[in-house]
Amino acid sequence: MFTPSLFRWTLLGCLYAYATRVSARSIRSETIKVADPTVLILGGGVAGVIAARTLYENGITDFIIVEARDELGGRMQTETIGVPGNEWVVERGPNWVQGTQTGDGPENPIWGLVKKHGVKTQANDWYGSMTTYDETGYVDYLDVFNDSSNEYTTLTVAAGARVQRQLVDLNARSGYSLIGSKPQTPAEKACEYYQFDWEYAQTPEESSFIASSWGNNFTYDTDVGGFSDTNQMSIDQRGFKYFIQAEAEEFLQPQQLMLNSTVTNITYSSSGVNVTLTDGTLLVADYALCTFSLGVLQNDDVSFEPSLPDWKQEAIQSMVMATYTKIFLQFEDDFWFGTQMAIYADTTRGRYPVWQNMNLTEFFPGSGIVFVTVTGEYSVRIEALSDEQVQAEVMGVLQAMYPNVTIPQPTAFYFPRWHTNPLFRGSYSNWPASFFNGHHENLRATVDQRLWFAGEATSLKYFGFLHGAYFEGLDVGMSLAECIRAGGCAGLAHIPEITNPYPYKT
Ligand SMILES: Cc1cc2nc3c(=O)[nH]c(=O)nc-3n(C[C@H](O)[C@H](O)[C@H](O)COP(=O)(O)OP(=O)(O)OC[C@H]3O[C@@H](n4cnc5c(N)ncnc54)[C@H](O)[C@@H]3O)c2cc1C
Ligand SMILES: *[C@@H]1O[C@H](CO)[C@@H](O)[C@H](O)[C@H]1NC(C)=O
Ligand SMILES: *[C@@H]1O[C@H](CO)[C@@H](O)[C@H](O)[C@H]1NC(C)=O
Ligand SMILES: *[C@@H]1O[C@H](CO)[C@@H](O)[C@H](O)[C@H]1NC(C)=O
Ligand SMILES: *[C@@H]1O[C@H](CO)[C@@H](O)[C@H](O)[C@H]1NC(C)=O
Ligand SMILES: *[C@@H]1O[C@H](CO)[C@@H](O)[C@H](O)[C@H]1NC(C)=O
Ligand SMILES: *[C@@H]1O[C@H](CO)[C@@H](O)[C@H](O)[C@H]1NC(C)=O
Ligand SMILES: *[C@@H]1O[C@H](CO)[C@@H](O)[C@H](O)[C@H]1NC(C)=O
Repeated sequence: MFTPSLFRWTLLGCLYAYATRVSARSIRSETIKVADPTVLILGGGVAGVIAARTLYENGITDFIIVEARDELGGRMQTETIGVPGNEWVVERGPNWVQGTQTGDGPENPIWGLVKKHGVKTQANDWYGSMTTYDETGYVDYLDVFNDSSNEYTTLTVAAGARVQRQLVDLNARSGYSLIGSKPQTPAEKACEYYQFDWEYAQTPEESSFIASSWGNNFTYDTDVGGFSDTNQMSIDQRGFKYFIQAEAEEFLQPQQLMLNSTVTNITYSSSGVNVTLTDGTLLVADYALCTFSLGVLQNDDVSFEPSLPDWKQEAIQSMVMATYTKIFLQFEDDFWFGTQMAIYADTTRGRYPVWQNMNLTEFFPGSGIVFVTVTGEYSVRIEALSDEQVQAEVMGVLQAMYPNVTIPQPTAFYFPRWHTNPLFRGSYSNWPASFFNGHHENLRATVDQRLWFAGEATSLKYFGFLHGAYFEGLDVGMSLAECIRAGGCAGLAHIPEITNPYPYKT
């Protein structure tokens, strides 16, 4: 583990850092140069940690992960909720290993790490353990639910036919309509929501027909190389994040990690990259690998000097950062469904529609915890409300679901605000119909040979997923390692302009 090159860097790096810190201070107190590694890995989420591991495995140890938060893991974060004596660690962000392995196909690498580090998970039945409600209370519409599940499969098959014939993309609403699925009732809409929005965090109107189907297949459909349709939920009280932190522990040296370090400015040229932190610290490197979320890049939370080229900006602004919000409640009395899942069909589509019961033997028995999920614009809407306002709305929905029960006040209430969080600006990316394959290449392409990009959003097959972030950390990390060993390279190629295959006629 203590490689010669790391040893050299450690000694020289420390001496150099000390010397420059002193000299820089004496010139300009706000500019403190702490190190000049070969690579700065910007962001310590799954993509950043796996990129670091990939460099390390390729003999490159002269890198630093720069992370704003006080721990590794990125969107993998926990919250402890509940009354004293009945407190539980719940997940603000990702919660499921989506697709484990069945058949002879590949294994989801997140599943591999979860097993390696002993993270406790439980299979979550999304289809066979369901109770259905509407605004009048309990109403059995499992037949509608089953139909919507079959319609979703038909949607992915229809999208596959378009891919084979090289037909242009449409949005998934067009796709649904073309296969004859046109939800009218609140129940039909809520069931469609469960199949679609609950996965992509946006509506069918907002999502690509082809990419949503394609993405679904690569993760869930073993017939086309996917992992499996199992959703394995983390119930580990160390948090789901434990596996990535434990993985980092195996190779990462203290001097390769800067926590509590928020990047404000990235200056780049074909000879190197300079990164400035909020406290004025200047980091000078040969390369930077930026793993900030798509939302952070879209929102100019970090400035680039010079501005990113047009082709990169078009790609960044054309993919969408969607939001997925889990709202947790704890109760002392048991009044809700005994199944794992429930759907509530409101006359407003997407209004507190998907419920999950954690108070089951195989999850958090005796916890009294349930959570409800909202997505997309509804998430944006509730983030602008106070906790009290959202709690009142959620309680109103529970009262509608259980008209004959006096719903007690919750003993805990919590939801994270991903959309307004300046380190994320949403929960994960979603592919709209106006985003083309060329845009995708440009999203992950290198700028000026030195500025590299990776993360969940740059994954063609697995955007939105933990394993997407993993594979991008691995693939881009590998390309970067080869580049460094070759003494430089052009980096991942971009397309200067994405043009229409069939021009407009005037
Ligand atoms: C609510 C929610 C539910 C999800 N559910 C699932 C699920 O069940 N299964 C699944 O597979 N995936 C799920 N995902 C998606 C998954 O979390 C992401 O795909 C993955 O974590 C992205 O990893 P990343 O490394 O690309 O980005 P990130 O984890 O965002 O890492 C980027 C890092 O950059 C840091 N950063 C940002 N700005 C700065 C700055 N200015 N200076 C320094 N550091 C900065 C951030 O703090 C972060 O640590 C979910 C996500 C959310 C939010
Ligand atoms: C980061 O900040 C937190 C609180 O702000 C502090 O507890 C922690 O020690 C800091 N960690 C590092 C590595 O500086
Ligand atoms: C729904 O499908 C499941 C199998 O997936 C089946 O067991 C159940 O009977 C079906 N319910 C209805 C109402 O069609
Ligand atoms: C998705 O999988 C289905 C079933 O295996 C297949 O028919 C379809 O072509 C695939 N769709 C896409 C977009 O690849
Ligand atoms: C640094 O970035 C901030 C925003 O993150 C911006 O306001 C400021 O102008 C930038 N400074 C320079 C020197 O580019
Ligand atoms: C980075 O900063 C150093 C020292 O101030 C400077 O010499 C160099 O030109 C800068 N590089 C870039 C890419 O801005
Ligand atoms: C939760 O489950 C336990 C059994 O594990 C049960 O006794 C209890 O009534 C349930 N409800 C609450 C609110 O805890
Ligand atoms: C609620 O009470 C009404 C009137 O007493 C009754 O008709 C209805 O079946 C009850 N609903 C449930 C879900 O128990």
